[in-house]
Amino acid sequence: MVESTRIVLASRPVGAPTPADFRIETVELPELREGQVLLRTLYLSLDPYMRGRMSAAKSYADPVEVDDVMVGATVAEVIESRAASFAKGDVVEAYSGWQTHDAVPASSVRKLDPDKAPVSTALGVLGMPGFTAYSGLLKIGQPKPGETVVVAAASGPVGSAVGQIARIKGARAVGIAGGPKKCAYVKDELGFDAAIDHRAPDFVEQLRAAVPEGIDVYFENVAGAVADAVYPLLNTYARVPVCGLIANYNAAGEDEGQDRLPAFYGRILIKSLTIRGFIQTEFVKEMYSDFLHDASGWIAEGRLRYREDIVEGLEHAPEAFIGMLEGRNFGKVVVRVG
Ligand SMILES: NC(=O)c1ccc[n+]([C@@H]2O[C@H](COP(=O)([O-])OP(=O)(O)OC[C@H]3O[C@@H](n4cnc5c(N)ncnc54)[C@H](OP(=O)(O)O)[C@@H]3O)[C@@H](O)[C@H]2O)c1
Repeated sequence: MVESTRIVLASRPVGAPTPADFRIETVELPELREGQVLLRTLYLSLDPYMRGRMSAAKSYADPVEVDDVMVGATVAEVIESRAASFAKGDVVEAYSGWQTHDAVPASSVRKLDPDKAPVSTALGVLGMPGFTAYSGLLKIGQPKPGETVVVAAASGPVGSAVGQIARIKGARAVGIAGGPKKCAYVKDELGFDAAIDHRAPDFVEQLRAAVPEGIDVYFENVAGAVADAVYPLLNTYARVPVCGLIANYNAAGEDEGQDRLPAFYGRILIKSLTIRGFIQTEFVKEMYSDFLHDASGWIAEGRLRYREDIVEGLEHAPEAFIGMLEGRNFGKVVVRVG
């Protein structure tokens, strides 16, 4: 019998999640069935969308039920196989969640080549977040040479790739990040043209000064005060791929404030803006192989850089996840489980 240690949703958070919303437990896995592989998790990805899964509110995907294991992408080693296509020792990308072991259908995992890239990158720059940046920016943002692209959460896996791909396409990239360390990284190591600290008291003025010709593409990762500062600077025909709204994820209810929708619509009309939401899965069939090809090439050429924030041990996943929602991570959050 194989045991799996796992983290389940103990209760649905109201507002920001706390450690009490998670519970760690150990269960015995049932015997492996024909067509399944038994996985030992090496790395678990922590991503902002998981906050949505903790809530019962209707969304594009079903919520995690209370007492069920938290969902998540993983990189895992096959430790037993009852499927012809996989052998013991294979390393795969899976969606096996916050747990040390799982038995899953072989058809649900993708084999990785550890010689091509560090396997943890399948959860970041060469995985879902990298693809989100690539597809949302190129399909919806469509940056042209000389245009200005602005993105927040710019040191994270999505934002960092957005700015670097924008530059590869000949655009100017302005990143917004929390604090001087992250800003220095975004500008000096990732090569963005400018990086602005959204916590600085003169953030709005600094942003205006960094985009003297206005903003042509705003890749929306955060909403909130950052979006309030960006919108007045959008140029006519600007494009806004709406990717994420992390400033709102811990909101406990509807915003009771002033109704800003008329002004927002007014701006869309006057500036002929294109604002288009997306979930990256929409573009997988059409663009994923191009993404893997392009991103691998750019990494090899040193034009697409990435940073991982490795957390040691599954038991630390809840606090790392809570910290990520508050901006305490620095780079793609990956939990080393194995
Ligand atoms: N549509 C899709 O298919 C899709 C797929 C993947 C991800 N996403 C979205 O993309 C966004 C980025 O994801 P990621 O994985 O790259 O996250 P990430 O950058 O690793 O982590 C989230 C970052 O958001 C920033 N943040 C949090 N609250 C903020 C606020 N109030 N104002 C400004 N920034 C704030 C923090 O960075 P700072 O310290 O720099 O502020 C934090 O580190 C998220 O909104 C996520 O939900 C969407």
